[in-house]
Amino acid sequence: MPIPTSRPLLVDCDTGIDDAVALLYLCRTEGVDLRAVTTVAGNTSAERAARNTLQVLEVAGRTDIPVAAGAATTLRGDTLSEAAFVHGDGGLGGVSLPEPTAPLDRRHAVDLIIDTARQAGGELDILATAPLTNLALALRKEPGLPALIRHVTVMGGAVHHPGNITAVAEANIGHDPEAADAVLTADWDLTLVPLDVTMRENLTEEHRQRLLACGTPVGRLAGEALDFYFAFHEETALPFRGSACHDPLAAGIAVGEVTPKTAPRLHVTVDTADGAARGALVADTRGIHRGYSPQPGANANVVLETDGTFPDLLVDRLCQARK
Ligand code: BDR
Ligand code: CA
Repeated sequence: MPIPTSRPLLVDCDTGIDDAVALLYLCRTEGVDLRAVTTVAGNTSAERAARNTLQVLEVAGRTDIPVAAGAATTLRGDTLSEAAFVHGDGGLGGVSLPEPTAPLDRRHAVDLIIDTARQAGGELDILATAPLTNLALALRKEPGLPALIRHVTVMGGAVHHPGNITAVAEANIGHDPEAADAVLTADWDLTLVPLDVTMRENLTEEHRQRLLACGTPVGRLAGEALDFYFAFHEETALPFRGSACHDPLAAGIAVGEVTPKTAPRLHVTVDTADGAARGALVADTRGIHRGYSPQPGANANVVLETDGTFPDLLVDRLCQARK
């Protein structure tokens, strides 16, 4: 089924197992106009994430999409940490893919973001599924960027849910809090997809077996890469063999295929102090007992509830034969 409206989309990611699944989903969803992908260090290095992206896009038959690598350090100059224990050596759960045939775009990710936004004439949507350093640098380099962007969807943060890199900080926000704060408070329309929903949309071993058995290249890649991701989740976060659906769910929301059940407009910032709460999302949820009544100064739609059915849709999509 085509998605409700088709708009140009740029994905900024750190591919990464769930980023890879999100990209595969976007490539296989009719009507998605994926214009460019940029990468940042996070799950793996920015260069490796870019190479992974080229490989993943090639499996999906999309060697035409420009891919550029970006930031390796945070806004304040710290090395962006990598997460081989979550995503495996190389970032794709140990799955080895052929050398990509498409070359890396020579531009820095920041320039590809700005160029793509200009070309799309105010219509570009951005989906960010990684530390927000590239987007923050793009805002610095082109202060007029918000006027060129229709909507930004960010996978990140934790509202009523614990963090996943500290007690309170989620990885995409917590690895570069200054960048996250700049992106969340910039003057653009923004939807935040936090752990509150991504930890509750779960892929299971049954889903993974369906992916492996369905016979499409994208299904097989997703099924193989998820093996490592499932082991990590089972050891550290979930009471069963399976995983969260972080970046794919954010992709489903970004393209309008998933309609959140609860997504109040809230005032959100990020704790950038050097204390125990560094990297925590500070979301003003004081309206919780009054249906989140309108909040002056609110700057983000914060997704707090989805219906839990996205993993089924995702698996069906990855298993659909290519037209
Ligand atoms: C986020 O962190 C990364 O490990 C995942 O790819 C996702 O974007 C979840 O906290
Ligand atoms: Ca990611």
